Amino acid sequence: MSRVYQPPALVVDKSRLPSFAKYKEMHKKSIENPEEFWSEIANEFFWQVPYEPGNFVSYNFDSSQGEVFAKWMEGAVTNICFNILDRNVMNGHGEKVAFYWEGNHPDDYSRITYRKLLDEVCQFSNALRDIGVVKGDRVSVYMPMILETVVCMLACARIGAIHSVVFAGFSSDSLAERVANCEAKVLVTADGAWRGEKLLLLKKTCEDAMLKAKIKYKHTVEKCIVVSHLSRVTPCGTLPDDHKSLYRWNDSVDLWWHDLMEVQSTCCTPEWMEAEEPLFMLYTSGSTGKPKGVMHTTAGYMIYASTTFRYVFDYREKDIYWCTADVGWITGHTYVVYGPLLNAATCVMFEGTPFYPDNGRYWSTVEKYKVNQFYTAPTAIRSLMKFGEEHIKQHELQSLRILGSVGEPINSEAWLWYYNLIGKGNCSIVDTFWQTETGGHVLTSLPGATPMKPGAAGFPFFGVEPRILDDNGRKIEGPGEGNLVFARPWPGMMRTLFGDHRRYERVYFEKFPGYYCTGDGAKRDEDGFLWVTGRIDDMLNVSGHLMSTSEVEGVLTEEPRVSEAAVVSKPHPIKGESLYCFIILNEGVKFDMELIDSLKKRVRSRIGAFAAPDVIHNASGLPKTRSGKIMRRILRKIAMGDTDIGDTSTLADPTVVDKLLQSKP
Ligand code: PRX
Repeated sequence: MSRVYQPPALVVDKSRLPSFAKYKEMHKKSIENPEEFWSEIANEFFWQVPYEPGNFVSYNFDSSQGEVFAKWMEGAVTNICFNILDRNVMNGHGEKVAFYWEGNHPDDYSRITYRKLLDEVCQFSNALRDIGVVKGDRVSVYMPMILETVVCMLACARIGAIHSVVFAGFSSDSLAERVANCEAKVLVTADGAWRGEKLLLLKKTCEDAMLKAKIKYKHTVEKCIVVSHLSRVTPCGTLPDDHKSLYRWNDSVDLWWHDLMEVQSTCCTPEWMEAEEPLFMLYTSGSTGKPKGVMHTTAGYMIYASTTFRYVFDYREKDIYWCTADVGWITGHTYVVYGPLLNAATCVMFEGTPFYPDNGRYWSTVEKYKVNQFYTAPTAIRSLMKFGEEHIKQHELQSLRILGSVGEPINSEAWLWYYNLIGKGNCSIVDTFWQTETGGHVLTSLPGATPMKPGAAGFPFFGVEPRILDDNGRKIEGPGEGNLVFARPWPGMMRTLFGDHRRYERVYFEKFPGYYCTGDGAKRDEDGFLWVTGRIDDMLNVSGHLMSTSEVEGVLTEEPRVSEAAVVSKPHPIKGESLYCFIILNEGVKFDMELIDSLKKRVRSRIGAFAAPDVIHNASGLPKTRSGKIMRRILRKIAMGDTDIGDTSTLADPTVVDKLLQSKP
């Protein structure tokens, strides 16, 4: 049985939730009386039209009873950007630093106050309006971790345009697909950016993506706005004398960010948005391979992002908070931008990597800004563990109070390293389980309030009612393991998939009618702690990046020499999971290094570098049932080197298994 860690005394003393009893009392209220619970929080915000009492939440989670929906605070009208900037400035936070920006190179840094952020957001909002962007239009964003990215997202929110941020590690093919799918009118990017010593040619990728969007999907992006970033940063490698040679400028499409901003006023009336009007969309992998445009709406997301940030990180007025996530993922949306800023927090925004200029960069940055809350991913923790304690000892880390983990299950070894070496036993660890679709944390420990177990996500956040169901949909009470679902909506949940509400119903609500299905497995232990055990569908989580096996299989089979492919996940000591690919070659094709390299390159360029396969296994056949279904359970065992394969009697040809074990690279 795993050891229970009580919240450290230093955390309890400061906590706004200083006991488990207090957490339980608030959770109970959030379930029994959502209107009373959430309206207290909603009342802190500015509403152009207040919500109507009695109409706080309505929903249907059972598609046999009609369309699936969830609505919060229908009838209310607000603007999230106004609540983040104008309201905070009016409340006296104008001179407060919103972001300390730490560039890739340690000599490159800056800061921005709430007042300055408001000015810049208004200017960019006006610029977007000037080029014809109106409420409901989609703006794709392919940006590095720079302040202009935040300005751009908030400007979209201010004018009611829907931002669709695409992680700047995605390839031009992936970007093209996403830009075309949402029919983006405008694409915002930077000329380039450094990550460590690697130069990312973002504008160039956008050019390729716009061309591919036009040819393959018949979609034309009207304007591409470009931040001149390379000119200001200290180069971390060699740059051509004329760095403009790194991209082509197209006068009829491309616009410089600074040219647009220069002529704009710092006043901009916000677009008042209905509670359920869209705020942003964000693509996430789908198990069929086609990305899903997860849609979040205005009011519910606002109160949920704000409340989860406040309680999970126990943020206090003068605290300095740092989330290392990239803004291209949901963590970057909710816990780099919206959650902290709604709470008038001071944040660190970091452009670089944990390994540049040395492996102590995270810890020197914590020391530099005296960070109180630090939020990162298990994969980063595991990759830093291997460098030993030397870099940690060189830095003062006692400002830390809360340590967060997100994106994948954290193994107990990494948890203990984080707790003991980084937190020195004085910090609460919040292992936050959530998804792009949930908008904010849904299972987590809470500093000061809940005990912790290494590797357990802990307890439901306010308003969240988790259930564990067996495969037949029966509720598992008490200790047990099964499918993790939620029995009622919480304000931050996604409302639909862009342009495909049926897919939303099918993927999330039809497996277990009446419940939101996470696609993850979970177990409840004898002390009531919830542990997320990983995906139960054909999805993989590599370094916290979710992707579908079929998406990678699709790319592998595009290679003319490959006739069939099956991809499974293999545990990896740092990345959590890695891609193990079985391929079947066409007759007469030679399996050699050239082919392996070309397949890996193909996946990198079609999806992104983070999706590169670890192993390519030249298979003579795949284990299939008589009806032709690939038995992935067997492939996973082979990938792991497990020779105890279990029952193979349902296979059309059981001899494949031995052949696969023998040909394992
Ligand atoms: O499998 C779960 C895993 O990441 C998935 C969601 O991925 P994504 O939508 O990209 O969002 C990641 C950031 C919120 C989940 O279905 N996951 C996320 N957090 C945890 C986790 N698995 C275990 N423990 C976590 N704390």
